[in-house]
Amino acid sequence: MRIFSLANNKGGVTKTTTTVNLGYGLARAGHRVLIIDTDAQSNSTYSLLGHLDQEPTLFDVLINGTKISDALVATQQENLYLVPSSINLSAADLLMASAPGRERKLARALAQLEDFDYVLIDTPPNLGVLTVNAFMACTDVIIPIALTTYALIGISILENTMQELRDNLDVELPIFGVIANLDDHTRLSADVLSAVREHFGEKLFDTVIPRNIKVEEAHNQIACLFDYAPNSTGAQAYNKLIQEVLRRAERA
Ligand SMILES: Nc1ncnc2c1ncn2[C@@H]1O[C@H](COP(=O)(O)OP(=O)(O)O)[C@@H](O)[C@H]1O
Ligand SMILES: [Mg+2]
Repeated sequence: MRIFSLANNKGGVTKTTTTVNLGYGLARAGHRVLIIDTDAQSNSTYSLLGHLDQEPTLFDVLINGTKISDALVATQQENLYLVPSSINLSAADLLMASAPGRERKLARALAQLEDFDYVLIDTPPNLGVLTVNAFMACTDVIIPIALTTYALIGISILENTMQELRDNLDVELPIFGVIANLDDHTRLSADVLSAVREHFGEKLFDTVIPRNIKVEEAHNQIACLFDYAPNSTGAQAYNKLIQEVLRRAERA
């Protein structure tokens, strides 16, 4: 079971969109996929279910001891399942502050699951207890980056946090890949892409996802991008990216 955390402590860098589209794409390629929404904003939950009143949620798993298998829900896509989030996860940092083993609650919950090929963990835009739980539970990290101004500001904080966990909590936490997104085909996008490539080298995936309104529309209309606009530049780029992810996963 390959477990990817999609993490970047900045908001709006396409963590959720990329989690959901990778989820659809890998499921449509025949893999059994589970998305875990650890962001209290619940954007991936809403994008997959179209509502936010699913119970129980990840909150119950982490705080109330509910079994993760009881929180699993099917989505409209065959092979694609979700552990939903809820707004009460916004209190998790406080509620889990003094819980013993608080960093490994998600890892322990996931150890009870076996029948998935890929788990994708969508994370909040901070490095609090939920993102740390995602890091402790995953086999690899995927970093989505928006090709807009200041893309690399804050990355050192992410990298330092990951290094601290490696040093202190006995976790490998390899970077599986870096995904550049929101390419505007401007000089600015090209410059930021060069800086990202310089920083991450071969970790950067060759496929760059363009800014494309169809990606946002599919997301807002609770639709699968590959059905909603299969010929869009966004869908085509995500398809290429999924091939790259699968090739890299087989190699590693
Ligand atoms: N390729 C894209 N083209 C256009 N809009 C996009 C694309 N990817 C994401 N978006 C939009 O950008 C915004 C931020 O993306 P989101 O995935 O929510 O970021 P994060 O989870 O990192 O906060 C959302 O409104 C989303 O619909
Ligand atoms: Mg998000």
